[in-house]
Amino acid sequence: MEYLSERAKLLRPSATMALNKKAKEMKSNGLDVINLTVGEPDFQTPQEIIEFAYKAMRDGYTKYTEEKGLKELREAICEKLEKENNLKYDVEEIVVSNGAKHSLFNIFLAILNLGDEVIIPVPYWVSYPAIVSICGGVPVFCGYNENFKIDLEDLKKKITRKTKALILNSPSNPTGIVYEKKELEELAEIIVSNKILCISDEVYEKIIFDKEFISIASLGKEIKDLTILVNGVSKTFSMTGWRIGYTASKREIADAIGKIQGQTTSAPSTISQKSSVFAIKQGEKLFKNMIIEFKKRRDFLVQNLSKEIKYPYPEGAFYMFLSYKNIDSIEFAEKLLSEKLIAVVPGSEFGVDKYVRISYAVSSEELKKAVERINEFIRRF
Ligand SMILES: Cc1ncc(COP(=O)(O)O)c(C=O)c1O
Repeated sequence: MEYLSERAKLLRPSATMALNKKAKEMKSNGLDVINLTVGEPDFQTPQEIIEFAYKAMRDGYTKYTEEKGLKELREAICEKLEKENNLKYDVEEIVVSNGAKHSLFNIFLAILNLGDEVIIPVPYWVSYPAIVSICGGVPVFCGYNENFKIDLEDLKKKITRKTKALILNSPSNPTGIVYEKKELEELAEIIVSNKILCISDEVYEKIIFDKEFISIASLGKEIKDLTILVNGVSKTFSMTGWRIGYTASKREIADAIGKIQGQTTSAPSTISQKSSVFAIKQGEKLFKNMIIEFKKRRDFLVQNLSKEIKYPYPEGAFYMFLSYKNIDSIEFAEKLLSEKLIAVVPGSEFGVDKYVRISYAVSSEELKKAVERINEFIRRF
């Protein structure tokens, strides 16, 4: 008797997990391992938010909320989207979920029929193909150009009658690249003319160094109607463990997402939701020092990593996607760990071999040591 579903069997064991496990074991054996695989800010959630959470509990925010989430939070999200992104949404077009990952899961459950295709630009965040597959969709991968952005010609070729949506992630995990307005306009044109949906994952919106963030949804009514915007408080406010993400979309889609959530997880923790109202309303003053620090680290890496290492120029998030000669990504990651005690994620996890992802969500001291070791590795390779 086979007890596991085909769905469960679709999921591959992750190379990141295996390397992470190895790095942790090495660390617990007393080795000075530097872990550059981290996918969350290394800062504590701002103290003001923590204090506010205590108050929320004392004030009785301890019961269920509406299935789409606490109305006050959805109102705060609408205000934020209008003020910061020039996007007007109605409160019923917002759904708050247990982190942006859960928002993505809800979206695909709401829009995909079995066999519908979702275009995922390479390199991609590891979870996209898995979430699409679990929800019955078929991931279709699309190539990248010399700037590690979507290859528009390839995108046009990949759109078929079965295509339901394209995923866009700017700033990007794993490369840190950020789309310019003109590039977004070109993408929007293709999306609108083919009437497919755009899932715009904007979770790194605020972790951006050299340019203004632009949401593709803000480029006009037609593209807004086709966009399902995804964001949350995890990365911006260093609140990864609070599990709050949200979607903004047309009412019909928001209602479907709300219904799915209502019958599965219900809305997220009320304490986290109420605390997120505070975080979103306070805004920049709670995260500006974190962004300054990330920029310093990015600049340090760009200035100090061996010039023989190649990468797309990182303009946001807290990752860099490195390649050295033609070295295979798994071999690169394994050797860095065993020879230099540096844990990184092989690019094969993101659909691109020959690259590894490093995260600079570690202290400056650790980063300095890491750069020395990586450069030494390159010299001796
Ligand atoms: C591109 C991207 N989207 C979504 C998420 C998930 O965010 P959350 O912690 O809010 O679920 C992550 C987390 O690593 C991410 O990198």
